[in-house]
Amino acid sequence: MQELVEMREVMVHFPLQRGETVRAVDGANLTLAPGEAVGLVGESGCGKSTLARALLRLVPLSAGEVWFDGKPLHRLPERELRPLRRQMQIVFQDPMASLNPRLRIGHILTEPLEVHGLARGKQAWQQAGRLLERVGLSPEYLNRYPHEFSGGQRQRICIARAIATQPRLLVADEPTSALDLSIRAQIHALLRDLQRELNMAILFVTHDLHAVRQVCSRVLVMYLGKMVESAPADRLFTAPAHPYTHALLDAVLEPKPSLARRPRNLPAGDVPTALRVPAGCRFHTRCPYAQERCRVEEPELRAAGEGHQVACHYPLSTETEP
Ligand SMILES: Nc1ncnc2c1ncn2[C@@H]1O[C@H](COP(=O)(O)OP(=O)(O)OP(=O)(O)O)[C@@H](O)[C@H]1O
Ligand code: SF4
Ligand SMILES: [Mg+2]
Repeated sequence: MQELVEMREVMVHFPLQRGETVRAVDGANLTLAPGEAVGLVGESGCGKSTLARALLRLVPLSAGEVWFDGKPLHRLPERELRPLRRQMQIVFQDPMASLNPRLRIGHILTEPLEVHGLARGKQAWQQAGRLLERVGLSPEYLNRYPHEFSGGQRQRICIARAIATQPRLLVADEPTSALDLSIRAQIHALLRDLQRELNMAILFVTHDLHAVRQVCSRVLVMYLGKMVESAPADRLFTAPAHPYTHALLDAVLEPKPSLARRPRNLPAGDVPTALRVPAGCRFHTRCPYAQERCRVEEPELRAAGEGHQVACHYPLSTETEP
């Protein structure tokens, strides 16, 4: 089956005035099957949002390729991209900033329908009402303005706008981190339901590993601009193979006595940034298991069991030979 999305060796570098370069995304690979929900996790600043934007061509690529439904987004002119944009939508963290405060909800929701020629006038308005219902809101809200809603309701409106064009891909960049804890699970459940009903792929960017479990079947772990592990969600949570993933999980889950080499807490100081990416394995400055080889040789992503890939010379899982 053809992948819906394939990103190959993507780089997004930002040159700074003083001659330095921020290597925000630095050789990342990613695939999404049609209808698949994939979580993208990693510490703040590791390049998740930049990668998500590069996928939608909202930021220029420095190198690499992005394929969507067999089409090379990385070399399509904007004119040819436009019809594809209907199939790729994004929801951001801050729903208030994403909604024009001067427009009624009805106008916010009919706009994408009209722009893409899907419906007009009364028909578009009716369709907007159905979209509101689909995200758990009353169609009577069409005449109201964004400020009349709570944060969770506003994010539902953003989601309604995103699914208006029946996209095949929804990128959700921290869609619930600005919301109250009690609201988050409801929005995660909504995303999961929509993904299944509309057979829509989701790239779910988040710091919240519990949310990933709720929404996603596969998880990608990113560190300093690159993927270090990819695994089915269940497997990632029970048998992480990369020391970094293990450390991330340690922060939120009960210790796993079955894993003999449980990492100690990672050193807090001297965390490298995208401005200064260490040579060799980019995690070696913080890794409790680093050895000489790790300082000089960068590990490639390699198979570590079914559907599982890890970029480490000495993975914690016993299924790969070091
Ligand atoms: N336009 C830009 N110019 C320069 N540097 C940038 C730009 N956008 C992002 N960066 C840098 O690129 C790196 C990756 O940023 P990005 O926002 O993609 O990280 P993130 O993983 O989404 O972080 P967070 O979890 O905090 O949202 C960071 O070091 C950031 O400062
Ligand atoms: S390659 Fe070495 S430094 Fe990198 S994660 Fe694996 S053990 Fe740690
Ligand atoms: Mg981000």
